[in-house]
Amino acid sequence: MAVIAKMNPDRKVVVVDINAERVAAWNSDDYSLPIYEPGLVDVVKEARGKNLFFSTDIESAVRECDIVFVGVNTPTKMFGRGAGRASDLQYWESTAREIKRFAKSDKIIVEKSTLPVRTAAAMDAILNDHAEHKFTVLSNPEFLAEGTAIKDLLEPDRVLVGGPQNADGATAIREIVNVYAAWVPKAKILTTNVWSAELTKLAANALLAQRVSSINAIAGLCEATGADVDEVAKVVGADSRIGPKFLKAGPGFGGSCFKKDVLNLVYLCETFGLHTAAEYWMGVIKMNEHQQERIVSRLFREMFNTLANKKIALFGFAFKADTGDTRETPAGTVARLLHEEHVRITVSDPKALVNARRDLSDLDGIMYEEDEYKAADGADAIVLMTDWRHYPSLDWQRIYKQMRKPALVFDTRNCLDAASLKDIGFKVLNIGK
Ligand code: UDX
Repeated sequence: MAVIAKMNPDRKVVVVDINAERVAAWNSDDYSLPIYEPGLVDVVKEARGKNLFFSTDIESAVRECDIVFVGVNTPTKMFGRGAGRASDLQYWESTAREIKRFAKSDKIIVEKSTLPVRTAAAMDAILNDHAEHKFTVLSNPEFLAEGTAIKDLLEPDRVLVGGPQNADGATAIREIVNVYAAWVPKAKILTTNVWSAELTKLAANALLAQRVSSINAIAGLCEATGADVDEVAKVVGADSRIGPKFLKAGPGFGGSCFKKDVLNLVYLCETFGLHTAAEYWMGVIKMNEHQQERIVSRLFREMFNTLANKKIALFGFAFKADTGDTRETPAGTVARLLHEEHVRITVSDPKALVNARRDLSDLDGIMYEEDEYKAADGADAIVLMTDWRHYPSLDWQRIYKQMRKPALVFDTRNCLDAASLKDIGFKVLNIGK
């Protein structure tokens, strides 16, 4: 919304939330925003107070505006039907009812949250049943990735707007296309029917997640045979039909979207009786979980089949670099598996320690240390979990001196210079090598 405001100076954008603390952070004088995202603060500085406002006054905002983007959370449902797979739509539904209650004119409602196919139809039914005003429900899924959100928004591969295939739908689609056309070339703004748009978002994330699981499945085989997964990925990716992106083997995918969306797809397949397709997509998740178990099994083997009381420093806890986000982070799973082995764990991360403490608050004895040198002091092993840009340029000689010997580095992102680490004296493990 901040980018929309920046690129549409003649439109007023009001972001509303029920969480007053978060809204206050968005409005704070020193711009201590509630999320870390490179470049975001500059966009907010440019637009806030001019045509971008943050508020808890949902009623006024709904009344005033012509278009409502709904981005409420749709976590994986943990109860009842579809538990562990389906999306929990209660927040979405209550938001829809609230919009209906406050509206004093016709509105375009835009799904921004990732929702299962046909949610728009349910929302349409709730909003338009005995309504005084007309609500046109569109789907405009977001493809930005964390850490590169601002760039992805400013230079998207494509923008997708799905809407009803009737006259009202066509008018509403045009409205939303115009919001983006302020900076996105028209040829990159694709329009579809609502269900295609909803399914496209799930399909895009599932295909990306599947690429990560596929290369990780190859990585295991590389370790067993002496092949090098980075070499394999490079040559495979040189095939223009496959392409080079999203072929980096690592500790498995994390983040708020991939697992949730693949599980959603699994649930949809099951609902429509497509059991083989459901199993196929479930394999993507199983492979991902297996990757973290493999990391701990390899550590176990390489550290003389006992990890109890050894000190291991996790370098990086965020699910990827340039974010403080730790949702579904592979580092969390690895920390839990190591904790079961009675490892003395120190977690280090430049941006994610607040979240790490919260995520692991049920585990005793975990230490948290932002300074990598202190984190590594006296450690038997370092497990690099997140590819933070500064890790390769740390003083590894100094780290080596401080560690207990034999000192091991398990670089699960293959981002360190393994040869020079070995020269220093480290034992080095990589994924897929
Ligand atoms: C993803 C999608 O990319 C984005 O389009 C969608 O809108 C939201 O979900 P995000 O979760 O922010 O974005 O991160 P992404 O960069 O896609 O990475 C997801 C996970 O896969 C990370 O844990 C990352 O480390 C891992 N990954 C990615 C790999 O292990 N290897 C790769 O080659 C690429």
